[in-house]
Amino acid sequence: MTPDPPPPAIDPDRFRAVMARWATGVSVVTARVGADPAGLTVNALLSVSLEPPAVLVSLSRDADTLPVVERSGYFAASFLSAEQRALSERFARTLPSAEKFRDVAAHPAPHGSPLLDGALAALECRLRTRVPAFDHVLLLGEVVHVEVGGEAAPLVYYRSAYATAEGTDRLRLSARRP
Ligand SMILES: Cc1cc2nc3c(=O)[nH]c(=O)nc-3n(C[C@H](O)[C@H](O)[C@H](O)COP(=O)(O)O)c2cc1C
Repeated sequence: MTPDPPPPAIDPDRFRAVMARWATGVSVVTARVGADPAGLTVNALLSVSLEPPAVLVSLSRDADTLPVVERSGYFAASFLSAEQRALSERFARTLPSAEKFRDVAAHPAPHGSPLLDGALAALECRLRTRVPAFDHVLLLGEVVHVEVGGEAAPLVYYRSAYATAEGTDRLRLSARRP
C-alpha cells in the first residue's frame, strides 16, 4: 500500500495572518526563584478547567522565563489593562530580568510569583503538567490564588497590534429553543 502523500505545507506568513485575526487579551506571566524574578508577555493563555480551577499557558522553548517557572513550580499571570501597554512592551523585550522588573510596581503572590500592581486580575498557579509542543512548552497550572482588580478596559492584541475593547454587551443565552 502506498502511504498518503504529505499534506501541503502551510505558508508560515499565511498561518500568522490567520492567527492574527484571533483577538486575545494580554498578560504578563511571572515566576520567581529566590530573589530572582522572571517574566514575559503572553497572549497564549487559556482557562482549562473549573474543578480544579486550571489554566494553560504556552511558552516558547527559548523563553528565559521557562526554566524559572520549572524550577519554582509556580507561575502567575497578571491580566493587563489598556493603560498597561508599556508593561506589555517591556516584558516582550529580550532584557535581563532585573531590567524588566526595574521600577515596576508588583507584589508577591503567596508562593512568591510577582503580581503586577494595577492589573485587571491576576492568578497564581501550581505547575501541574508540562507538555513539550513543537517549539513551545505547554504549562498546565492549578490556580491556587486569585486577585480581582478595579474596573478598566482590557489591553487587546489583534492583527499584530494593540487594540481596546469598546464596551460590552451581555450574552443572551436562553434555555428555550428558538
Ligand atoms: C502581545 C504579545 C504576546 C506574546 N505572547 C507570547 C506567548 O504566548 N508565549 C511566548 O512564549 N511568547 C510570547 N510573546 C513573546 C515574549 O513576550 C518575548 O519573546 C519575551 O522576550 C520572552 O521573554 P523571556 O525570554 O525573558 O522569557 C508575546 C509577545 C507579545 C508582544
